[in-house]
Amino acid sequence: MREIEQRAARAYREKFGEEPELVASAPGRLNLIGEHTDYNGGFVLPCAIDRRIAAAVGKGGFETRLYSADFDETRRMDDRDSSWADYPRGVAWAMGEAGHEIEAFRAAFAGDVPLRSGLSSSAAIEAATALVLDAFFGLGIGRTDLAVLCQRAENDYVGVGTGIMDQYASLLCEAGAALLVDCRSLEAQSVPLDLEAGGLSLVVCDTRVERGLADTGYNDRRATCERAAARLGVEALRDATEGELKLLSGEELKRARHVVTENARVLKAVEALRDRDFDEFGRLMYASHASLRDDYEVSTPELDTFVETAEEHGARGARLTGAGFGGCAIALMPEGETAELADACEQAFARRGFEEPAFYEFVPAAGAELATGIEE
Ligand code: GLA
Repeated sequence: MREIEQRAARAYREKFGEEPELVASAPGRLNLIGEHTDYNGGFVLPCAIDRRIAAAVGKGGFETRLYSADFDETRRMDDRDSSWADYPRGVAWAMGEAGHEIEAFRAAFAGDVPLRSGLSSSAAIEAATALVLDAFFGLGIGRTDLAVLCQRAENDYVGVGTGIMDQYASLLCEAGAALLVDCRSLEAQSVPLDLEAGGLSLVVCDTRVERGLADTGYNDRRATCERAAARLGVEALRDATEGELKLLSGEELKRARHVVTENARVLKAVEALRDRDFDEFGRLMYASHASLRDDYEVSTPELDTFVETAEEHGARGARLTGAGFGGCAIALMPEGETAELADACEQAFARRGFEEPAFYEFVPAAGAELATGIEE
């Protein structure tokens, strides 16, 4: 059992006075390339990070109870209350909506995914809940369907209109690999992400800017993409070609140009990874960032500063990751040069009067898993 799974099991024991029956955990994610393409029916290439949220469950008696070891609080099934509990509630709700029988249960959660950083702690708690409830109630739902249920929980219960990327990554990624997802057909395949062979590490900078504008900014972008697709007479921008872009203008042109070029970059990035061509992969990352900054307009001065500083310090590639408007950026750095980049970046942030950033190095990790061997 992973340490975080043991913590959830211990929390269950302490809170509910008995052994949990099952434990599962699921990771946060970062997206290597393919941003704002998922809700346009396009391609994404995320990988799971080695930070997880674990859920321990057992029988509930008359009433479902949810306990968070991190917040040290218990919540009931009740109504939505905009707390962490809305995610597991939403998953149980979505399972019910899909016709699955869910009885009362008890669950304890513990996690180490950084919160509110754009690393998908919400997908992690959804995926851990979904996998553990599926096993506990013997529902036999496959992983891709579990991911769709989790997205439904997030969209229709929690009320955040995200695409499918985060839930797919958390449920389907494999260790040492990225996951290419076709967000229209929902087919996914692992692509080896052999950073060691390239002598590289994956550095993440959390700009500590909470994605305050994210909801409106995100929904605006989605709406513009839908208008652009309608104007081109295609179902989604996934179907648009570069040649057709000339039929658009203004904001619709800029947003659509990002989506069309980004989809092409994802497919090229997959080829580059397969060839272990990290120079090409890095170039595509920089191009993705420029497109998100100039055409999609979701970058911030902090994210741009990190990307510029990373480039000056020898990063093969760097870009914002996730929705933008704050949150995190990533860089592919030659191994051993992370500390230097972090120093330089801290100085650059201080000079510009930005919040002090946080840095992480993540290893591409396994997706959601049931833990075996529950013990003291
Ligand atoms: C957020 C959403 C994802 C995706 C990204 C942008 O992370 O949750 O579904 O749309 O933004 O690529």
